[in-house]
Amino acid sequence: MPPIEVFAPAKVNLTLHVTGLRDDGYHLLDSYVMFADIGDRVFVEAADEMSLTVTGPRAAGVPDDARNLCWKAAEFYGARAAITLEKHLPAAAGIGGGSSDAAAVLQGLEQVYGRPAPLDTLPLGADVPVCMVGHAAHMAGIGERVLPLFTEVPMPCLLVNPGVEVSTPEVFGRLARKDNPPMEPWPEGGGNAAALDWLARQRNDLQAPAMDVQPVIAEALAVLDALPGARLARMSGSGATCFALFDTFQDAEAGARAVASARPGWWVEPCRLR
Ligand code: C5P
Repeated sequence: MPPIEVFAPAKVNLTLHVTGLRDDGYHLLDSYVMFADIGDRVFVEAADEMSLTVTGPRAAGVPDDARNLCWKAAEFYGARAAITLEKHLPAAAGIGGGSSDAAAVLQGLEQVYGRPAPLDTLPLGADVPVCMVGHAAHMAGIGERVLPLFTEVPMPCLLVNPGVEVSTPEVFGRLARKDNPPMEPWPEGGGNAAALDWLARQRNDLQAPAMDVQPVIAEALAVLDALPGARLARMSGSGATCFALFDTFQDAEAGARAVASARPGWWVEPCRLR
């Protein structure tokens, strides 16, 4: 049997409100998450021994042993597998690369072994539950509460990473306030126009502390904000990847060409969010 192939999309936090701090040090989140049509590819097949091969344009520096979340996901599922991870997304970038890969491994193993993965995937990481859903969702709690949301049309988007890795615990640690206001209610049924108006009034509370850690994030946001047709520019997750939303995919592609020529070292990907 050929390996099962599973797509591991980039996760984008269009909003990320930090609304509290638990006694165990984890933060309460209120986030609107969507998934891109770009991402990593994971290949999974049954094997007598665990193995992980990392390939693809962003493979450099990615561990191919038990440190990798793909490997941990197979151990969590309780099966040995031969996994190939084709890496396209930057690491430690705020777009859930490792979490999406782990969710893809679990989904691949479900197909290989015909048995569902444990329902509570939070122990693998706060973003893994939403990545198991893989669809626009409201994420709450510390990441374990995922409510799928209806979206009408894909949102044209440009993802830009200014080439720096960001430590999530460090960004959370620099957060000035832990008890910020939650999101306003999601504008049900209003289409992309209402969603954009709503998004503009929401926040990513990790953006300011991430800019303290990596000032180049402010530059990435300014570059995105200045692009023709950009309706909103914001950081995803704990950074450093930032996104801009557009009315048309053509505008997102034109923006990608402009950023790629002005900042040749940056990772630049136009995509559609679903
Ligand atoms: O769960 P994950 O491995 O993605 O989290 C990385 C780190 O981010 C955690 O160790 C914690 O410091 C911080 N975090 C948090 N509150 C959350 C999620 C993550 O403080 N809800």
